Amino acid sequence: MASASTDVDLSRRAWQRYWQSDRLAACMPDNPAAAAEIERYWKGEFSGLSSGARVLDVATGNGVLLAWAAQSAADRGLALALTGIDAAQIDPLRFVTSEQEALRSVAFHGGVAAERLPFGDAAFDVVVSQFGLEYSDLDVSLSEVERVLAPGGCLRWLAHGASSAVVVESAERVAQMDFLLAQDGPFAAMAFFTRALLQGRRIARARDRLQASLEVARTYCLKNPPSELVQQICGSFMHMAIENQRYHPEDIATLVEENREKMRFYRRRLRDLLAAQLTPERESRVRESLAVSGWRDVVMSPLADSGTGNHLGSVISATRAW
Ligand SMILES: C[S@@+](CC[C@H](N)C(=O)[O-])C[C@H]1O[C@@H](n2cnc3c(N)ncnc32)[C@H](O)[C@@H]1O
Repeated sequence: MASASTDVDLSRRAWQRYWQSDRLAACMPDNPAAAAEIERYWKGEFSGLSSGARVLDVATGNGVLLAWAAQSAADRGLALALTGIDAAQIDPLRFVTSEQEALRSVAFHGGVAAERLPFGDAAFDVVVSQFGLEYSDLDVSLSEVERVLAPGGCLRWLAHGASSAVVVESAERVAQMDFLLAQDGPFAAMAFFTRALLQGRRIARARDRLQASLEVARTYCLKNPPSELVQQICGSFMHMAIENQRYHPEDIATLVEENREKMRFYRRRLRDLLAAQLTPERESRVRESLAVSGWRDVVMSPLADSGTGNHLGSVISATRAW
């Protein structure tokens, strides 16, 4: 079993790699109308901010919330003081090609944990977080948020709710990746096959093992629809096994290893997401943490897709008491 520190390190590397590609946001619903609903919620929140308001985004990723905040302020002819932190070594200006103007107005700090915010007391008027704070140790990070918020300042946090579509979908995907990456699963059988090709021996035995594993995958797909990921990967393994003479064994081995690595990172991110979801128990812990004297006007409510009624996340808002 992996130790907690190995897991934390894998998580950090997984997110780092994720943010080094040209994407502004994570965990957005596949449905564009639902994603637009989330954007509308945030732009509504940002439209109430006055000029010069100091905003901190916790677990900012590539800064989607702050880009929306900057746009919303620019539309009103105002400027905000925008700061984003993330545990991963982020560098949105380098990796994101969209929203460059908005992102240029933000001070980003990578390698910073929500549990140890490197800011003075009362340094911000607003703290926001989208699918972020819940990834941290909430007992510690919520008191950090309280500390850096000025009296009267507010917290606006959109968290993964246990029944949200993203959470349900992620659980299915993790199960599929667990199947693909199991010790006796299709990735292991394909790696065994490519090793046999590279060594030029025991090829028939390795092909039999691969075929048996792909047959198990076929049965898995029949029992667990929809299994697109399993189908897609196993389809490409099948193709490479049948057509192996058209490829260099080294190229097949490299491709399999690259995909295995990518999948390990992807599974890590989704496992983190599942661990971060606000289950009813975690939700009550949050309520308890915010019920202390430092907070008032605590509201927790679901954000739903107005078209389908699907749960998109849980909105938690609270005000730092005077
Ligand atoms: C689902 S992403 C959300 C990013 C961004 N808010 C968005 O909506 O696109 C979760 C982020 O939380 C960050 N994270 C995880 N644990 C953290 C912690 N303890 N402190 C700060 N950031 C953390 C990860 O590095 C990742 O970038």
